[in-house]
Amino acid sequence: ATAQQIEFLRESIKTIPDYPKPGILFRDVTSMLEDPKAYALSIELLVERYRNTGVTKVVGTEARGFLFGAPVALALGVGFVPVRKPGKLPRATLSESYELEYGTDTLEIHQDAIQPGDNVLVIDDLLATGGTIEATVKLIRRLGGVVTDAAFIIDLPELGGEARLTAQGINCYSLVD
Ligand code: PRP
Ligand code: ADE
Repeated sequence: ATAQQIEFLRESIKTIPDYPKPGILFRDVTSMLEDPKAYALSIELLVERYRNTGVTKVVGTEARGFLFGAPVALALGVGFVPVRKPGKLPRATLSESYELEYGTDTLEIHQDAIQPGDNVLVIDDLLATGGTIEATVKLIRRLGGVVTDAAFIIDLPELGGEARLTAQGINCYSLVD
């Protein structure tokens, strides 16, 4: 990615102060989605990075992770697996609880969606504390999947997510800090 491309992506993300709570600076990736050039570029840059790396599945987390994970999976020619909030997946699931920057939640994955030895790339829109992706990585590993990489559109470095995921053996990549 060139510095110019990254700057273009950065400028497409609006910032909303005090949403959803006082003191939170909300980085709104939906403004990037509204610009087809920015949305396409974000997908192209991720596809370029992970093409020919042996990825066999892409996992994306509800809800905004779906918007980036699914197009990357299609472009890489591999399956997409959703990790969802509780009670949304119809087949047998595994669950993990996690903490957010603003709250706590549980995530689920279909037990039969990952095969032992799958090389799984995890994609989400934004890395904050890393709780969402730490829980997601645990789910994938419980099913025998191999996870070494997680990719994001936005990293909020002051929240320490990258260090938390590095401690779990995950290399983090983000387009915009
Ligand atoms: C947001 C964001 C990431 C997560 C990052 O999702 O899309 O998934 O929080 O936070 P973390 O690194 O501290 O875990 P949210 O749970 O708000 O769900 P949504 O995408 O369904 O709005
Ligand atoms: N998810 C967690 N923290 C966030 C933030 N500051 N902006 C957007 N999404 C978030």
